[in-house]
Amino acid sequence: NTPAQCPFRGTRVGGALGSKPQTDDWWPNRLQVELLHQNSPQANPLRDFNYKKAFEKIDFEQLKKDIKILLTDSKDWWPADYGNYGPQMIRMAWHSAGTYRIADGRGGASRGMQRFAPINSWWDNGNTDKSRRLLWPIKQKYGAALSWADLMILVGNCALEIMGLKTFGYGGGRIDAWEADRATYWGPEFWNGQAFGENGKQHEGHPDEMVTRTIRWVGEPKDEYYDLENPVAASHQALIYVDPEGPGGNGDPIASARDIRETFARMAMNDEETVALIAGGHAFGKSHGMVAPDKIGPAPEGAPIQAMGLGWQNPEGTGFAEYTMTNGIEGSWTPNPTQWDNSYLENLFKYEWEKTKSPAGAVQWQPRDPSAPKTPDAHKSGVEHSLMMMTSDIALKEDSAYRKVCQRFLDDFDYFSDTFARAWYKLTHRDMGPKVRYLGPEVAEEDLPWQDPIPALDHEVIDDADISSLKDKILASGLSVSALVSAAWASASNYRDSDKRGGANGARVRLAPQKDWEVNRPQELSQVLSTLEEIQSEFNGTQSGNKKVSLADLIVLGGCAAVEKAAKDAGVDVSVPFTPGRMDTTQELTDVESFEWLKPVSDGFRNYHNEAVGYKVKAERIFLDRAQLLTLTAPEWTVLVGGLRALDQNWDRSKHGIFTDRPGVLTNDFFCVLTSMDYEWKPTDDSEMLFNICDRKTGETKFTATRCDLIFGSNAELRQVAEVYGADDGHERMVKDFVVAWNKVMMLDRFDVCAQV
Ligand code: HEM
Repeated sequence: NTPAQCPFRGTRVGGALGSKPQTDDWWPNRLQVELLHQNSPQANPLRDFNYKKAFEKIDFEQLKKDIKILLTDSKDWWPADYGNYGPQMIRMAWHSAGTYRIADGRGGASRGMQRFAPINSWWDNGNTDKSRRLLWPIKQKYGAALSWADLMILVGNCALEIMGLKTFGYGGGRIDAWEADRATYWGPEFWNGQAFGENGKQHEGHPDEMVTRTIRWVGEPKDEYYDLENPVAASHQALIYVDPEGPGGNGDPIASARDIRETFARMAMNDEETVALIAGGHAFGKSHGMVAPDKIGPAPEGAPIQAMGLGWQNPEGTGFAEYTMTNGIEGSWTPNPTQWDNSYLENLFKYEWEKTKSPAGAVQWQPRDPSAPKTPDAHKSGVEHSLMMMTSDIALKEDSAYRKVCQRFLDDFDYFSDTFARAWYKLTHRDMGPKVRYLGPEVAEEDLPWQDPIPALDHEVIDDADISSLKDKILASGLSVSALVSAAWASASNYRDSDKRGGANGARVRLAPQKDWEVNRPQELSQVLSTLEEIQSEFNGTQSGNKKVSLADLIVLGGCAAVEKAAKDAGVDVSVPFTPGRMDTTQELTDVESFEWLKPVSDGFRNYHNEAVGYKVKAERIFLDRAQLLTLTAPEWTVLVGGLRALDQNWDRSKHGIFTDRPGVLTNDFFCVLTSMDYEWKPTDDSEMLFNICDRKTGETKFTATRCDLIFGSNAELRQVAEVYGADDGHERMVKDFVVAWNKVMMLDRFDVCAQV
């Protein structure tokens, strides 16, 4: 007779919510469908709040004044270096934006993710917790009208301005997330087979042993060829870009330059922008390395409850001011670290630099010439120190291409200032999507290529009667349902919510590079486009006023008409919503290289899997990733796949997953076959990429399928959804849900009409 015991008594097992082990520990290979359901409105205390309206009501001038006063109002609990918080705020802003990577558009400043794990606890983000906490009075004053994400970037701009830089502009509109993001892969996180320590320190060890190093040398170390796993954009997990001490702390500037080039390119920064950002950023502030790293307390996420969310407790002296320990390198780059000037580059080039060590033991550099200018102590008046450079700074001088850029900046400070200001604007706004999403009075007038410009609407849009007659014309043109759906899907479905790029607006599907992507069925696409262009010019030619239809609208409308027809042919009458107002952009306004990043390497919607890429990740995982970037829920994802299979959308017109003898008709046959026990599913070879679907009785192969088909029958959660649509009462529901999900995808980039919340 054991007395009743409190289930939370004493032990982690079977106790508090979330205790390990959990499903993922038992079944680490299961598809984490729940990643599609992050950021539930239930986690958002501001779910009915219109951020755009509130932000635009802020007295922006007063807000900037408040921030600028705060920047030089030193607080005893974290005294400002040189009496100015500007430099540490610039670093915080740069680290907020600098997690962005162009391969999947994830990371970046746009949702304020620096507030959450793992980013809030990366060693590289040391003491940014203090910067954010110092800003609380501003956040408190402006409340919900000013997101943390917007504030973190705005304070960076204000800091640059009070120290003498003319900034290029500022756009608000970043909407805070309310929970840690679990969908982003930041690179491997084990070191010598051990999970990372709480501090996330990564200074020890040889680079080859460090699995946290995401850039690999292929072949011998120092070989020319580097391999940085996609989509990662930092040389080590838990760094913003590269190790300041050189790869693995090796103090080698040339190797550091290679890491810098590779990682900054992953943010679409060229050599000039890269040099401008590093040289510009390090015109300010200092590095902090007074204490051995192993003395420092745990990062915020592992800190004791009484630390109230702050981490990296430093036991030495006061633990701040002259005792501050952040990265481990100690010192400042310039004689006046709170002034925008060219002395970083001047001194970098004027003096020879020799390796030395910081008090914390980190590799750093100092001028060989004892008469080189000194820099004042950040807290003790009358005390001076040698200037400091990091290995990653010396890299700008040692690498021949970077050196040329530096020379140009040295010769022309105004050019340097402008290049830095522009690169900073790009760095901090790159992940916000089109310019129509920017808010506030300081949005730069100029359209910039990285904003993927689309001309503003300049005509009256088509009305209901036009829509109806245009749909009839499109359907009568001889284009098949499959071809029309394919063109519309190709146009819209490359959207990614991570950085709000891609989508149907602009009709970039008719421009390079998209028009040539094999997944878009280029030949068929060009036929569809030329027929739609004829319909467009006939329509526009017969209008007397300013009414027009864009090709971007017609492509989507063609898809809508085709879906309606396919539903009708399956016996369900539906009207597919259509909202006109898209514009056509031009090839000149399309940065081909940067758009190439949107090209799918694998796209389960069209059963496309480019084997040449050499995947380490299973096709269905990449498919889940794609669904997450499209903001689809599990039911939306499932119904879209079932519908697109019925509509014969495989890129190569293969029959994988097309479990129907009526392709082009919006049946629920995909789900009926997928859930039926009349069949068994047999891999065609050991790779388990393709499967034969055989009649259990006769053994006859009835259909073929890929992993991206079978996952909807094998994964427990997706199967439950598939069963809803495969049931006897599931067909009409499927068609209606398909239409809603279809419209969602077509509208994902319509920031001009969809409310910003
Ligand atoms: C400080 C590394 C690029 C702005 C630092 C620190 C390190 C570092 C180690 C010292 C942190 C501390 O101990 O307090 C790097 C590396 C870069 C890079 C490896 C790329 C190769 C940039 C860029 C910017 C920037 C692009 C901004 C445009 C700053 C500022 C500080 C700083 C303002 C001074 C912070 C303070 O005074 O508290 N950087 N950085 N850095 N960095 Fe960078």
